[in-house]
Amino acid sequence: MGHVQITPSILDTDFARLGEEVARIGSADWVHVDVMDNHFVPNLTFGPSMVEALSRATELPLDAHLMIEDCDSNAPAYVEAGAGSVTFHVEATRAPVRLAREIRAKGARASMALKPATPVEPYEALLPELDMLLIMTVEPGFGGQKFLDLCLPKIRAAREMVRRHGVETWIQVDGGVSLETIERCAEAGADVFVAGSAVYSADDPDAMVRELRVRAEGAST
Ligand code: DX5
Ligand code: ZN
Repeated sequence: MGHVQITPSILDTDFARLGEEVARIGSADWVHVDVMDNHFVPNLTFGPSMVEALSRATELPLDAHLMIEDCDSNAPAYVEAGAGSVTFHVEATRAPVRLAREIRAKGARASMALKPATPVEPYEALLPELDMLLIMTVEPGFGGQKFLDLCLPKIRAAREMVRRHGVETWIQVDGGVSLETIERCAEAGADVFVAGSAVYSADDPDAMVRELRVRAEGAST
């Protein structure tokens, strides 16, 4: 499995000071940007112009997590805005293979997300098309929710599928990831870890990023 990466979410930061907020997580591998449209999820955040502004405010690559309807039409704009990785939800995409290919052709990593009730097995054949699979460990929409242990078997199944296919697809987890839960995710086979409230509620967010990394590395199988 790939090396451990920590991708802090800026969802619960001060949006009037985003440049300063991303400067507090220098040890992170990516900045996780939660894009919400108030339709796919009951919350509203950023659009492409904010992603574009953020890409100029940090050296870190941007990991855009799109929680929006009609990803087929709306996702490519986030590659153009400068995101290095673009994640679409399979529940909001009509043609995931076509979209993944379009994201890659435009120069970003293509990633697909599954809500907690969406099984991973039907998508096994898509793995070679995907640079990352995001297994949600809360219902998407808000930061600070409780980690859902019921998602752990799906992480295991995804890791097994990646092994079987001999592909390099990263497995990301998102939602309720903290010092308390990150080891469970790593043991199950995740290698990319989103953490929002755990990082930004810490006195020293960058120290928390480093601590999460150590925990995940210690538990990786
Ligand atoms: C939830 C978002 C997450 C969220 C994570 O819908 O996709 O990225 O910000 O926040 P925590 O780590 O607090 O669950
Ligand atoms: Zn997210």
